[in-house]
Amino acid sequence: MNLHSRTKTLAFLIAIFGVALLPASAQAGREQVKSMPWMNASLSPDERADLVVKEMTLDEKITLLHGTGMRGLGPMSPLSVNSNGGAGYVVGIPRLGIPGIQISDAAYGVRSSGENGRYSTALPDNLAGAASWDLDAAYQYGALIGRELRAQGYNMTLGGGVDLAREPRNGRTFEYMGEDPILAGTMVGQLMKGEQAQHVIGDIKHYAMNDQESGRNAVNVNIDKRSMRESDLLAFEIGLRGSDASAVMCAYNRVNGDYACENKYLLTDVLKKDWKFPGFVLSDWGGTHSTAKASAAGLDHEEPAEIFYGEPMKKAVESGKVPMAEVDDHVHRIVRSMFASGVIDDPPQKSVVDVEADLATAQKIEEQSIVLLKNEHSRLPLDASKVASIAVIGAHSDVGMISGGGSAQVDPPGGNAIMPPGQGRTTWQAHIWFPTSPLRSIMAEAPSAHVQYDSGTDPALAAALAKASDVAIVFASQWESEGMDLDSLSLPDHQDDLIAAVAAANPQTIVVLETGSPVTMPWADQVSGILEAWYGGSRGAQALARVIFGDVNPTAKLPITFPRSDEDLPHRNIVKPPPLPGGWKRVAAGLPAFQTTYDEGLKVGYKWYDAEKKPVLFPFGYGLSYTTYSYSNLKLMPADKVQVTFTVTNTGSRAGAEITEVYTALPESAGEPPKRLVGWSKVNLNPGESKEVAIEVVPEYLSIFNVDKDAWQLIPGDYTFLVGGSSQSLPLKESINLK
Ligand code: BGC
Repeated sequence: MNLHSRTKTLAFLIAIFGVALLPASAQAGREQVKSMPWMNASLSPDERADLVVKEMTLDEKITLLHGTGMRGLGPMSPLSVNSNGGAGYVVGIPRLGIPGIQISDAAYGVRSSGENGRYSTALPDNLAGAASWDLDAAYQYGALIGRELRAQGYNMTLGGGVDLAREPRNGRTFEYMGEDPILAGTMVGQLMKGEQAQHVIGDIKHYAMNDQESGRNAVNVNIDKRSMRESDLLAFEIGLRGSDASAVMCAYNRVNGDYACENKYLLTDVLKKDWKFPGFVLSDWGGTHSTAKASAAGLDHEEPAEIFYGEPMKKAVESGKVPMAEVDDHVHRIVRSMFASGVIDDPPQKSVVDVEADLATAQKIEEQSIVLLKNEHSRLPLDASKVASIAVIGAHSDVGMISGGGSAQVDPPGGNAIMPPGQGRTTWQAHIWFPTSPLRSIMAEAPSAHVQYDSGTDPALAAALAKASDVAIVFASQWESEGMDLDSLSLPDHQDDLIAAVAAANPQTIVVLETGSPVTMPWADQVSGILEAWYGGSRGAQALARVIFGDVNPTAKLPITFPRSDEDLPHRNIVKPPPLPGGWKRVAAGLPAFQTTYDEGLKVGYKWYDAEKKPVLFPFGYGLSYTTYSYSNLKLMPADKVQVTFTVTNTGSRAGAEITEVYTALPESAGEPPKRLVGWSKVNLNPGESKEVAIEVVPEYLSIFNVDKDAWQLIPGDYTFLVGGSSQSLPLKESINLK
């Protein structure tokens, strides 16, 4: 038995029997640990890591470089018995006071709580979070997840998805923050900041260009460096800068030839050197494909098993193929992140969360995230005292609201609403409906109205009920998940036909969308109202009913364009791989690449539709309110940072909050799409009230990335600033010359 396996066997025995056999010495050990020099919290995380890494044996170092297994994704280590039940577990070094790392997925809430007999709150999905454009909401979103992770015994999160929606049919669009790098990066940064403030190790993923799920372990994404730096990578850069997140998960796919997890350009040149990222890079689950190449490229940690970073890493160090200094850097980054995030000084304590408070937070965030897309003749909000009858139709809206699947899936407390009671544990890619009933919430808001439900399975029956009611509210859903992409942006299961039939029967039809991506709406002109509720989370129905009946005045704006059809997307179809037999050994060895080319380059989302002059259904940044706003008095003050000031006025009769948006058109010679978002501010306004808004623009947001100089560069010339309430409603315009 070699030293590495002996240490593991000993650790295994301690793990199984240690606590029971050695209570007194464990106490003594704790005292000893406290007095170790690296436990001095007045030293910096780097100083502390330097001190402790020096004390580690090679076996101990290697222990920190990999996980302990996950069925189906590599061999299981016997040490995984100490896992907390999450996606990953890294064995600690008790002798040196370094705890294990207990890792859980936590995109819109903590995953796998059902099989562990625990509770998690489901927040609205991540795209919904971005639709709030609200920095405090994003922080609260992260803080809730951080608290619930700790209460369940986890000290690291896998969340913070920020791949840009170049391809809105990507099955993980709901896990990301939309199509604009500045909005997405800022929001994910706030979310991670909130999470890390609870003392968990934060993680931003999937770095980078993981924009489709089809063939994700094989696809090679071809894209030029400038486009990457100014769009997809910029979102990560801003997110990391805004949060100091300690970990970055590299993606499954290849980028310009190399797997993301062995891509020196991404991991070392950009992330570690240019952005000076001090944390560690971990592979997506099964995303490591080599030892020496990955290590030299900058991958610090393999998950979930030890195929390349266990014994093979040890041999590579001993034979000189991987320098010890490289391993020391990996370990340093991991340990410094543990000190920096507080998981060593303030380890998680299992506890019961404040369920009611967390549900209230989930509801409030959804109230800030529901986008009012259409409101003909101000039909909304409904006046509960005047509506005599309401038809509630479709999408299981009698019992629940749908959620997004895959590793983001939160188990539904109360069970899957469309299954027999007690199904509060989910299986991979099951369609999960959270038991938050729109029907009941609508009934509660309109107690004197006659509210009836129709499943929508027979459009004729639904239309008959709609015809006999004052108002029809039709629910439509589009499920999506990790591991799949949407074939198109059309609503599935003939829901377009259902909506058209209902709208034909009653012009007072309001459509509520529960979708993870934009959808096309052939019926948009026939209905009087449209609300995008996304995947609304544990309290989706209550939030929605409060918007429908006007307790809440909508404020959210689209973080992603809703195009008119699939034909208008940059790519008519997602490139799919040839069928490949699976198995982790085959994936680990590396699958043959197939190619996709993002030749739309800089033109992501609204930048594409602007540049190609394609009309859209609902533009980026768009969202209505029950009041109206006007804009005036734009002034630009060039200094180190350009300051944009303007006045926004509530011209309606209700209090509201307007998300004011600032875009810039760069000089012609910059060779950019027509305009880019450079700032925004959410402004609370009473009826008739005006406020002056001042937004400072970060200089980088006005620059282009010069690949030859490998640096951001401001192109001298005329910059036009455009201000208003959506990317296509920008009443204020002013230019200045910048040098
Ligand atoms: C997903 C990651 C996730 C990991 C662990 C992978 O399949 O791509 O987002 O964090 O599994 O569950």
